[in-house]
Amino acid sequence: MPSRAGANAVDLWYALTADCPADALLGRFGPALSADEHERHARLVHAGDRHVFLLSRALLRLALSKTLGAEAGSFSIELGAGGKPRVAGGVEFNLSHTVDATGAGAAVVAVSRGIAVGVDMEPASRGVELAELVSRRYADAEREMLERCAPGERHRRTVWMWTAKEAVLKATGEGLRRSPESVVIEWGDDGRVRTPGWELARFAAGGYLGSLASTACLGELRATWRSGGELGPASGRAIELLR
Ligand SMILES: CC(C)(COP(=O)(O)OP(=O)(O)OC[C@H]1O[C@@H](n2cnc3c(N)ncnc32)[C@H](O)[C@@H]1OP(=O)(O)O)[C@@H](O)C(=O)NCCC(=O)NCCS
Repeated sequence: MPSRAGANAVDLWYALTADCPADALLGRFGPALSADEHERHARLVHAGDRHVFLLSRALLRLALSKTLGAEAGSFSIELGAGGKPRVAGGVEFNLSHTVDATGAGAAVVAVSRGIAVGVDMEPASRGVELAELVSRRYADAEREMLERCAPGERHRRTVWMWTAKEAVLKATGEGLRRSPESVVIEWGDDGRVRTPGWELARFAAGGYLGSLASTACLGELRATWRSGGELGPASGRAIELLR
């Protein structure tokens, strides 16, 4: 079923390594991966890193194949400006994958037709570690907003703020070549995060928090989870979208 995403719509695809055994991912999506992706997979030393890399590639191939209406192995993913991966066919995408302290991994893919997107996701548990970064490097207004929050909420907002900055830098393709401090996030009393020139949305998925950034007005924002035979045996998981 091609073209799930309409104009300005963004689909978020999310999956956990815990739900998707590595063997099953390799069996189903291994043939669709490029030689370069197989080499990168083989070079990873830790099993958790290998698993989440495989998960991210399976989720990406699945999301793109559904959006493009093409077989998962029939299109090439090239590197564009700044090393941001891209695909032909008028589809924009970005992905993030992460492993928490226990070795559990998660991946998220944002797919859109026609609007540039950047996505970043981190374990919620990183809030304590990132708080140190905030105290040294975030803007005064960002720090003051966080200091007004109770500790639990402060740590969650710290992670969201970091992912919002990275999502903007990933949408442009600059990545961390540009300083995250150059993107200042404003947290409105209405709970919406903003930064000039960008549309932002936050999400929470299991123990992970993330942000989506786009230059255009985000129209319909949908969370998509594929289970059953496509990635693993688990049933549906919730991803909570916050705008
Ligand atoms: C892109 C970047 C921000 C990723 O940060 P991260 O939080 O560690 O990783 P994430 O899982 O969220 O994102 C990684 C994915 O982003 C995508 N990506 C890579 N370069 C990108 C770029 N310039 N813009 C947008 N997306 C990019 C890829 O799909 C990548 O997946 P892969 O590593 O499996 O190929 C960071 O690696 C970066 O800035 N890279 C470019 C500059 C660079 O190499 N700097 C050296 C380190 S400072």
